[in-house]
Amino acid sequence: MFVEEVTKWYKINKRDLPWRDTKNAYIIWLSEIILQQTRVEQGLPYFHKFLERYKSVTEFADASEDEILKLWQGLGYYSRARNMHATAKIIKNEHNGVFPCNYETLLKLKGVGEYTAAAISSFSANEKHAVVDGNVYRLLSRYFGIETAIDSTIGKKEFKKLAYELLEQAEPFLYNQAVMEFGAIQCKPSSPNCANCPLRLNCYAYQHEMVDKLPVKDKR
Ligand code: ADE
Repeated sequence: MFVEEVTKWYKINKRDLPWRDTKNAYIIWLSEIILQQTRVEQGLPYFHKFLERYKSVTEFADASEDEILKLWQGLGYYSRARNMHATAKIIKNEHNGVFPCNYETLLKLKGVGEYTAAAISSFSANEKHAVVDGNVYRLLSRYFGIETAIDSTIGKKEFKKLAYELLEQAEPFLYNQAVMEFGAIQCKPSSPNCANCPLRLNCYAYQHEMVDKLPVKDKR
């Protein structure tokens, strides 16, 4: 029910974003790192700028750190750019310049955590790994009425387990894109669009007037 509704909604309402048209792990990596602490509208011009300048991970590896940091100017969190450069050099030297698509291999790269590894492996190779980002925490906590804090160890475990169970019934690429997009433009942090939400009849938070109480965070 949940999976079907969210993917159906996605097919109709998704934004047209350039990194969704590719299976190229390098391009997906570029987009996901840029979007880590950055909104889509702000990240888009940077994504195009970087891809135009560095067509492959090898070109990225061969650039000077100064040039990369200059291109990054305005995005903040400069450790992201430095980690990217280090990772690009490792892929050039130890992976023959072929960007890995495999979850376990990706996890070993600098600046790539569980979220990014799940995103790259599912988007580029349709691997069965669930993305759990802020959008997913919010959507799952509201729909399923989960009051465990999302920034607690036990909460992270619980949400990850649920996310992987839901993915079992789904197409990884489609479902992962769909839950993130649903969280970003329908089930928003403030003023979510409940009046027009296809999930509202089965949404725990909507039915119990708890939409503005979920997700729960320990630290404020
Ligand atoms: N934010 C992070 N990854 C994203 C993606 N693939 N699509 C839209 N927003 C995102």
